[in-house]
Amino acid sequence: MTVQPKNTGTIASVGGDRHSRILGVGGYRPERVVTNEEVCTWIDSSDQWIRERSGIETRRFAREDESVVDMAEQAAVPALEMAGITADQVGAIVMATISHPFQTPAAAPLLATRLGTGNVPAFDVSAACAGYCYGISLASDMVRAGSADNVLVIGVEKLSQWTYRHDRGTSFILADGAGAAVVSASDVPRIGPTVWGSEGDKWSTIQQRVGWDEIRRIWEHVEATGEEPDYSKFEVANIAEASTMQMAGQSVFRWAVWGMAPIAQQALDKAGITADDLDAFIPHQANMRIIDAMIKQLKLPADIPVARDIAETGNTSAASIPLATERMLRQGEVPHGGLALEIGFGAGLVYAAQVVELP
Ligand SMILES: CC(C)(COP(=O)(O)OP(=O)(O)OC[C@H]1O[C@@H](n2cnc3c(N)ncnc32)[C@H](O)[C@@H]1OP(=O)(O)O)[C@@H](O)C(=O)NCCC(=O)NCCS
Repeated sequence: MTVQPKNTGTIASVGGDRHSRILGVGGYRPERVVTNEEVCTWIDSSDQWIRERSGIETRRFAREDESVVDMAEQAAVPALEMAGITADQVGAIVMATISHPFQTPAAAPLLATRLGTGNVPAFDVSAACAGYCYGISLASDMVRAGSADNVLVIGVEKLSQWTYRHDRGTSFILADGAGAAVVSASDVPRIGPTVWGSEGDKWSTIQQRVGWDEIRRIWEHVEATGEEPDYSKFEVANIAEASTMQMAGQSVFRWAVWGMAPIAQQALDKAGITADDLDAFIPHQANMRIIDAMIKQLKLPADIPVARDIAETGNTSAASIPLATERMLRQGEVPHGGLALEIGFGAGLVYAAQVVELP
């Protein structure tokens, strides 16, 4: 005898044929400007080398007592304001970050409480520099499926905390900031299909140097024996270096230069538009030379505004795309209602691209 289900095909669906859009964006840049000259007091480098190889002139660092949740709140408030909704109308929070200092709980529930959204679903996404585009994709699908009417997406990082000051390969690149977007329902599609993926075979090209489990073992040994901590197995000098990020810069650079333009092109194709239809190109701000290479490969017309915020923000990972979007709109560089191609890529390695209508 086979067991029969009681009820088939009768689960109610809250979704419909609705679509999604970005209704508002917001950004927060920490106050402290860190110059290349200051960075060169930590590493053997020069202002000229950093400008030529990365395009970075200055970056912003958060205060020691300023958390990712603090920065997220500062970006969320103007995003809600622009969207014309109040916190109690937010139906879910998706927070893209890799620099919240707690393994658990996530940062997003804390932000929900701060903002006064009520007990909405709130979770973090660990997709590094692709985190914001991952978040937009998730939020868009949530809205379209009817899981929430308004989803607050945050990209926020305090990477100054997870960068070893004396590491020549990362300390001039990584920085702090927060960007936010409100994704809401729309009568027509205003967020295109996301082209996204991962390449776990390149997992170690950008990674935390030593896992927390290993760090704990080292310190348990120190406490049990009174011996000095031994990090030699991991080729790091101390705990400050052990807990920070390392990057195989050249490998990541080549991967981004050759691998990401085709992903961006697929996002254009899936949205049913060409590069000529764009009002803005807003790639992740990893390196000015990567941006230039993508422009060339995409054959982007010269008059299309391109985000080049890296010069003044450094690489803020998940925050870089919403920060650039917010600035370009605020300064009138791109039109409200225009089409923007955004692409994020980074540690994982992971990537995501989509065409969105600017709010
Ligand atoms: C990090 C990055 C800017 C380095 O630039 P690069 O041109 O690849 O530099 P290389 O590592 O090949 O080093 C070139 C030379 O500069 C030197 N160098 C490396 N770092 C340096 C620094 N901070 N200052 C001065 N010189 C430096 C190297 O020692 C090397 O010298 P050599 O030619 O005498 O051996 C570049 O690789 C990059 O942007 N990578 C991708 C970063 C990125 O996108 N990360 C995040 C992804 S989200």
